[in-house]
This record gives sequence, C-alpha cells and structure tokens, in this order.
Amino acid sequence: MLAEYSQERGFTTRPFLSPPMQLVHRDLSAWMNGVVGMRAHIDPAGNIHGFYPGSSTDTPRLFIGSHLDTVPHAGAFDGILGVVLGVALLEMLNGERFPFSIELVGFSDEEGVRFGVPFIGSRAFAGTFDEDLLATLDRDGMSIADAIKAYGLDPEALAGAVVDGPAVGYIEFHIEQGPVLEALDLPLGVVDAIVGQTRVEVTFNGSAGHAGTTPMPARRDALAGAAEWIGAVEREARCTPGLVATVGCIKAVPGASNVIPGACATTLDVRHARDEVRAAAAARLAERAHEIAARRGLEFVWAPRLEQPAVSMDLSLVGALERAVRLAGAPVYRLSSGAGHDAMIVAARMPAAMLFLRSPGGISHHPDEAVLEHDVAVALETGRHVLHELVRDWS
Ligand code: HGY
Ligand code: MN
Ligand code: MN
Repeated sequence: MLAEYSQERGFTTRPFLSPPMQLVHRDLSAWMNGVVGMRAHIDPAGNIHGFYPGSSTDTPRLFIGSHLDTVPHAGAFDGILGVVLGVALLEMLNGERFPFSIELVGFSDEEGVRFGVPFIGSRAFAGTFDEDLLATLDRDGMSIADAIKAYGLDPEALAGAVVDGPAVGYIEFHIEQGPVLEALDLPLGVVDAIVGQTRVEVTFNGSAGHAGTTPMPARRDALAGAAEWIGAVEREARCTPGLVATVGCIKAVPGASNVIPGACATTLDVRHARDEVRAAAAARLAERAHEIAARRGLEFVWAPRLEQPAVSMDLSLVGALERAVRLAGAPVYRLSSGAGHDAMIVAARMPAAMLFLRSPGGISHHPDEAVLEHDVAVALETGRHVLHELVRDWS
C-alpha cells in the first residue's frame, strides 16, 4: 500500500523527494505504463506524469492530478488519492479515446513540509516557481537544488517542468479534509473556490540564561514571548468570523529545561475566504508580535513563506463536474475549500476545478484519515461522466 512508503516507521511521512517517494514513483509508473497506451515520466521538479493519448495526435490535454507528498504522521489519502483515482479512472476506460489527451500529474510537493515552501511541484508545472527558492535549506542543511540532484534530477532543467501547449483544464479529486460533507451525509462536493493563505516563520530572539540564577525581571525569555503571542493568534482567529490561524510548529533554543530560551522559532498559518480580511489579520498579528517583543526586550523576525490569494474554480469545469455528479446518481453540492490545493496554483495556467470526497469524522492530516469505498466508486463514476461532458465542449 502506497501509504506505507514513508521515512518514518509506523507512520506515513513522505516529504518532497524523500527516499520513499522513489517507491511511490516506481509503483505508479508501473501501473501507468500497464494501463492501455499510457506512458509515464518524471519531470525535473519530481512530478510524475502519465500520458493517455487522445483520438488524434495534436489534441489539447486534460490534466488530472494531485500531490504525492504528505505531512508528518499523515493519513493515507490526502493528495495521493487524487492520483490513484486518476489512474483507476483511465484503467476503467479500456482504451476509449477522447478528442483530448489526458495527462495524470502527481505533484512532488504541495505541503511544504521539508523546506517550508509549499507547492514546489505545481508551481514548477505552472511556471510560477521562484528559482531563488532553490537555495532554501531543509533542517539538515540541504538545499532544494541539492535535493533535486540527490533524487537524480537536474535543477538546472526546471523550465522543462513547465506545462506547455493547449489545455482543456485541470481536475483534482481530493478528500474534503473537513466536516461539511459528512454533516450533510453527502459523498461528494464540487469546489467553487479555495481560500487564500498566508504562511510566515516568526522567530523571537532574547537571551539564554541560567534558569536558577536569573531573576525574573532580568530575563529576555524568547519562549515566554512567543507563548504570549500564540495566545494573541488564537484570540484574533476566534474573534474574526471565518478566519483560521494556526501556530503549527514551535522550537525553543537551546531547548534544555534549566536554560531560559534565547530563541523561539514558530510558524504561522492564516486563512480566510476574503484576501483583505486575511491580510488585515496577518498585519495585526505582526503588530502584536512587535508590541510583545518590545515590551519584553526581545527582537523578532517575520519571514513570509507564502502569500497565496484565494482562487475561484473555473465555472465551466464546475458545471461539467456538477452534471457528472448528477449523472453518477449523487446529490450535487458546492462548497469552498479551507485547505490549500495544487488546483489553486494550476488555476494560474489553465481552467481548474476540484471534486471532494467525504472525510469520515472530518479527519485529515492524521493517521485516522479515511474515505468510504462507496464514495470512491461514485467519484470514479463521476470522473467517467465528466470526460464525456467535456467531449461535448471539445468535439
Ligand atoms: O495545508 C493545506 O491546506 C493542505 O493540506 N496542504
Ligand atoms: Mn495536506
Ligand atoms: Mn492535499
């Protein structure tokens, strides 16, 4: 099972171009090449592609994809379900051809766990990857460029990952990762928009000292300052309708129980459907960090890692997906996505849309993440119908 390909025994942890990704690429390539007429290849950004030819050679391409990397201690379905479902859909076609070719894409990094830079794969695909980021280091001191080389790929050839030629669009199948579809007892949902997100690395710097001999008034405790700020983050999110804000990582240095922390690195993730609300909240949180640091005699570093505006899905593809859901015999329901997805990056390059599958318990980014077999079957049936819906637009 692909979820067992992990760099951590007993958990699913598969960051960008980590060794277990080679196994995922090996198995997916074998499956893709075994499906009638498909050809698999890996691009310079580590994205895997499976090409399913159309009824003639110079047809536009419909892309179906999602990501293959995971968060630490992930579930088995976030991202990879969209790629596996895509291959299974093409396998179901038994060689049927369309007036467009179909290209499956498994993106190499969406979560941004290894380098703190999300969407490396889909940005390389969409031509929006900032090559200055190639020097970004992971916690072992390896750069993105060296990680690409270590994987056997060429960072100098990243331009070769950029999609070219006419595109029908991009469809991403993905678990909802939230409670909405389950609460409504719906198997599927059609995504009409993906909320925007701001990610920042926020570091408080004070001075380390002896925990036993340093009087409280004399301290510049970076962790205490960060803790006060984290409380402000939660209060800001709780009192701003529709806003979510999370400090997911915290690292105190030097990290000993009898040493006052001299530095404390944290990560901030702020999201809202409206960009102006998200930007205003992030600005207020920067101001709070500044005020807390000044009062406590600390410095702080505000290092933006991602400013991703909210993205609307393509209404024509949304309509085709809704007709396909109906033809598959499921109720039609539109919702926006609080989670970020590669579709929001690819949308800069071509029409994009997403189909959500219900998340039992609303659980995701957790080993208990699940999908229902019935919902996967309905999603496959919807996939088959949407191909035929698109034939009408592309004949
Ligand atoms: O963080 C997200 O929204 C997505 O799961 N990468
Ligand atoms: Mn995720
Ligand atoms: Mn995902």
